[in-house]
Amino acid sequence: MVTEKSAIFIIFGGSGDLAHRKLYPSLFRLYKSGILKDHFAVIGTARRPWSDDYFRETVITSLKDYFDDSEDIMKGFAKHFFYQSHDVNDSEHYIALKNLAAKLDDQFEAGHNRVYYMAIAPRFFGTVAEHINSEGLKTTDGYNRLVIEKPFGRDLDSACELNGNISKAFPEDDIYRIDHYLGKEMIQDIPHIRANNPKLEAAMNNKYVSNIQITLAESLGVEDRGGYYETAGVLRDMVQNHIMQIIGAVASDDPEATDAKIIHKNKTDLFSSLKKLTPEGVDTDFVRGQYDTDKLGDKKAYRQEDNVAEDSNIETFVAGNIQFNTKRWSGVPFYVRSGKRMPEKSSRIDIVFNDKVDEVGIKPNTVVTLLIERVNGNSILINGIDYKESGQDFISFPEEAEFDKAREAYESLIIDILSGNRVHFTLWDELRSTWKYIDTIRNRWDEQTPDFPNYLSGSMGPDAAEMLLERNGNSWVWDD
Ligand code: BG6
Repeated sequence: MVTEKSAIFIIFGGSGDLAHRKLYPSLFRLYKSGILKDHFAVIGTARRPWSDDYFRETVITSLKDYFDDSEDIMKGFAKHFFYQSHDVNDSEHYIALKNLAAKLDDQFEAGHNRVYYMAIAPRFFGTVAEHINSEGLKTTDGYNRLVIEKPFGRDLDSACELNGNISKAFPEDDIYRIDHYLGKEMIQDIPHIRANNPKLEAAMNNKYVSNIQITLAESLGVEDRGGYYETAGVLRDMVQNHIMQIIGAVASDDPEATDAKIIHKNKTDLFSSLKKLTPEGVDTDFVRGQYDTDKLGDKKAYRQEDNVAEDSNIETFVAGNIQFNTKRWSGVPFYVRSGKRMPEKSSRIDIVFNDKVDEVGIKPNTVVTLLIERVNGNSILINGIDYKESGQDFISFPEEAEFDKAREAYESLIIDILSGNRVHFTLWDELRSTWKYIDTIRNRWDEQTPDFPNYLSGSMGPDAAEMLLERNGNSWVWDD
């Protein structure tokens, strides 16, 4: 049971797409479930001069895309929304924001709690955080939490600079860096699945695991995000954050840990033992691709998308073999793969056991699949079928109960922010290690000219992604 929470949310970028598509629908669900009720208000800020009424209308309009609740409920929710036109560089505007927040705090009895939510372009994160601090927006008798959306930097140097700016204004304990994969039900369940199934956990090491495969495949292309994607590519967009954090959930030591500090320490230890890559190692262990049109020539190739250069070398597909130097995992390949315009949306983890795993009571060569995106309602498969029908009983999982509680990733993360629970957020020490690793790949790739495009829309990516595994006698479990 989660009790009613109180806070004033200040959303920088409150008129934007992310706020309307993700944040407001999640806040509305929390409102309907009573977690947000009487003691909250949302201040949206952006440059354009909107009125409160107009802002509320935009909120209601986007809610209607997701909900069919009555107009009255939506209006009741929207009454908690206020708008403040804001220039991120203008100190006066922060004073106005501070006064409005104080006034609304009195009106809604919000406990002097503040959530500062950065739904703006990353280049403004530092400026806004510094002004919040220097213009005295922080309250002294409630909490002040800073929420940051990705991307957190574009390489180690820029991430360090950004972190330096933010941490001048907020202590690390008050910073909530969002990786929405950490809000997903399955990612949160993985430590419990490991901790509650002793045979499975006994097999989670280099004695019994042949390899672990993580696939985040999407069928869509870059859609209207070409401009952003040109500065990112799938390596920065999906591997540095989501895939690394998934590995953190699957491979960290001590899954029974419940204390946030211990959980983060285990993850930090894992990431700091990423096996060092050499530039030549990048050539053998990582594959990149960029989508072309489809078989029929109907779809746009990446290079034909809006705001994408005609000769762009940005990758829309990556596959790689990541390894760790830990006692538990040394020698085990973590094969990762993510791409746009693959045959279908699929987010899954395949744990491939070897032929010795019967020593701990699991049939030789068993494959356990954890579905981050459920398939036909299933969440765990053993050798491709629902684990309950697999004839093996080394996994139990109270999924029916869990399923009832299933929440949107953002909703669950917002509850954590309001509760001061940082378990499902990314800490700076983790980012430092993952950026360092990603930089080696990016730098090597930037030295070379790829032969793009090199895979058809609707295909499994370039052939080299298959060869990456075949070379070691392995193959992708999820294959078309
Ligand atoms: C985002 C990426 O972080 O994750 C997008 O920027 C990607 O490019 C998205 O499409 C995928 O998230 P999900 O939850 O739909 O798997």
